[in-house]
Amino acid sequence: MSQNRSSVLVTGGAGYIGSHAVLALKHAGYEVIVLDNLSYGHRELVEEVLQVELIVGDTSDRPLLDQIFATHAIAAVMHFAAYIAVGESVADPAKYYRNNVVGTLTLLEAMVAASVKQFVFSSTCALYGVPKFIPLTEDHPQDPISPYATTKWMVERILDDFAAAYELKSVSFRYFNASGADPDGLLGEDHAPETHLIPLVLLTALGQRQSISILGTDYPTPDGTCIRDYIHVADLAQAHVLGLQYLLNGGSSAVFNLGNGSGFSVREVIETARQVTGREIPVVERDRRPGDPPILVGSSDKARQVLGWQPQYADLNQILRHAWQWHQKRHGAKH
Ligand SMILES: NC(=O)c1ccc[n+]([C@@H]2O[C@H](COP(=O)([O-])OP(=O)(O)OC[C@H]3O[C@@H](n4cnc5c(N)ncnc54)[C@H](O)[C@@H]3O)[C@@H](O)[C@H]2O)c1
Repeated sequence: MSQNRSSVLVTGGAGYIGSHAVLALKHAGYEVIVLDNLSYGHRELVEEVLQVELIVGDTSDRPLLDQIFATHAIAAVMHFAAYIAVGESVADPAKYYRNNVVGTLTLLEAMVAASVKQFVFSSTCALYGVPKFIPLTEDHPQDPISPYATTKWMVERILDDFAAAYELKSVSFRYFNASGADPDGLLGEDHAPETHLIPLVLLTALGQRQSISILGTDYPTPDGTCIRDYIHVADLAQAHVLGLQYLLNGGSSAVFNLGNGSGFSVREVIETARQVTGREIPVVERDRRPGDPPILVGSSDKARQVLGWQPQYADLNQILRHAWQWHQKRHGAKH
């Protein structure tokens, strides 16, 4: 029980996945403190919806981190704070290495100095690069093809070394495509700029975009469009609580895929969105985008076996219904 009274510092808790993790942590009985610089996050989600302490600040601010660890009884850190746009990372890699690698290193050094030794990290399936086999398992070779994915790969290497040298224990979760929204409609996905397929499709359904682009219709897949593994954000959040409990119970450092295990094509997502919303969703077919593998689907057997994780919302229709509920609330239902 005493574990459940410990505080968890959640960096990036004002963002999409972090805010859902804060909700899951609250439901599990943890005290939560959010550190977010609000570069992409939403203050009102933390202060009004989640009603937890928000410290507006940056993971690269070492004096601030030292002060946070000195003044709060923090048992563990969940680290969501990062820049996430793959295309931007190609155009401006310095921005990504500085924030995602140097910012994380600063945070880890502050943790070691404060003897906070449990760390849950948002990694990505993008560090596998172009798949050599499907479904991807955790032992698939790692060959990131964007600076964004490389930043996550580098942090995982840092975590290996910190475990060996400083006994800092970590769980790294390699997410597939985070999607959906809180089933109760409190939280959801609201990136600006938005680059993810499901919100773009739903913004098109709402009339806020004219059409949705399909980037490539000649892939070697049944309908010619890319297949991805969409994992519901509430299932991701639940896995984070289990990962935290695993570490607090003395588990050693580990990496886990978090995916749905079944892939859906771009056309299937759009068609399901038409059914869920009952709206027209105009499509424009375009050329392939460089660097997109035809199929990305992961095996999450390890998370199920070791953590006892049982995803609740694997159904694409349900993922889209939850996302649609949020988008209508966030962006207005009248169209
Ligand atoms: N969305 C996905 O499908 C996906 C897939 C794989 C991995 N991830 C990882 O999950 C994490 C969360 O992604 P998201 O979709 O919720 O993104 P998001 O942009 O919604 O959330 C990130 C949050 O971190 C904050 N932030 C960024 N840099 C910061 C810094 N230096 N200090 C303090 N706060 C900072 C932002 O303001 C934002 O609130 C990221 O680490 C991302 O790389 C996401």
